[in-house]
Amino acid sequence: MAYETLIVEIEDHVGVIRLNRPEKLNALNSQLLEELVQALTGMDANDKVRAIVLTGSEKAFAAGADIAEMSRKSFVDVFASDLFGPVHDAIMRIRKPIIAAVSGYALGGGCELAMMCDFIIASESAKFGQPEINLGVVAGIGGTQRLSRLVGRAKSMDMHLTGRFMDAAEAERAGLVSRVVPPRRLMEEALSAAQKIAEKSQLTVMAIKEAVHRAEETSLREGLLFERRLFHALFATEDQKEGMAAFLESREPQFRDR
Ligand code: COA
Repeated sequence: MAYETLIVEIEDHVGVIRLNRPEKLNALNSQLLEELVQALTGMDANDKVRAIVLTGSEKAFAAGADIAEMSRKSFVDVFASDLFGPVHDAIMRIRKPIIAAVSGYALGGGCELAMMCDFIIASESAKFGQPEINLGVVAGIGGTQRLSRLVGRAKSMDMHLTGRFMDAAEAERAGLVSRVVPPRRLMEEALSAAQKIAEKSQLTVMAIKEAVHRAEETSLREGLLFERRLFHALFATEDQKEGMAAFLESREPQFRDR
């Protein structure tokens, strides 16, 4: 599949998707979002891919939804097409883990896209923000909801109301990103995390993703029950037998996704 706005590669069981509209700082226009959904859905269905890394350029992961494209739209246009709803839902349906490797700007829809990934590894140059207030709108792909859950109400309000950017160090302190590395080590770090995940049982990986997502959507009691039942269910797999036997025999497990 040839993409115009993405560079897509699969190597050593890791799918890498690089947003590629550098002249527009990877602003998320409809073509890019459509291609992104196709690339992610294709990798989700491809047995050769066991983890996905989503990245941008050194200057920008993505500087937001494409303002030039949006500016002309009316309420009827955006409401009738449910602008960003189907894209959001399609990305959230991906069952394989997605790591966002963020360098430079991750603003508006770019910050929201990074937050839709399962975790974020940031370069020291990363800048996160929800500056939609400067455009006379609010975030529309989850910013007010996800940022508040990830960094808490105070910082989320601050970011959305003032439109200020958060640097990588603050983002790590606040819990928005899991690791910060020097710019030249960003891809190495993200790929090595993805490769580590690719070595695990896919069954366990998908179960963890479902359980952690559930934590954001349900009560603690329901979430704990969901987790415990998943834990129980994995005892029906060969990979649980292999993982525990390998530990007891002091060897590396050979998972077969069964
Ligand atoms: N939508 C459409 N185009 C965008 C864009 C966006 N969100 N963000 C950047 N671009 C375009 C610029 O219009 C410019 O295009 P041009 O060269 O054809 O004029 C190009 O990308 C480079 O951006 P520029 O603003 O010149 O770079 P900069 O280094 O001076 O500033 C930013 C970088 C990120 C601070 C600035 O581009 C910006 O504020 N972008 C919008 C951020 C935003 O509001 N995002 C939320 C959208 S919902």
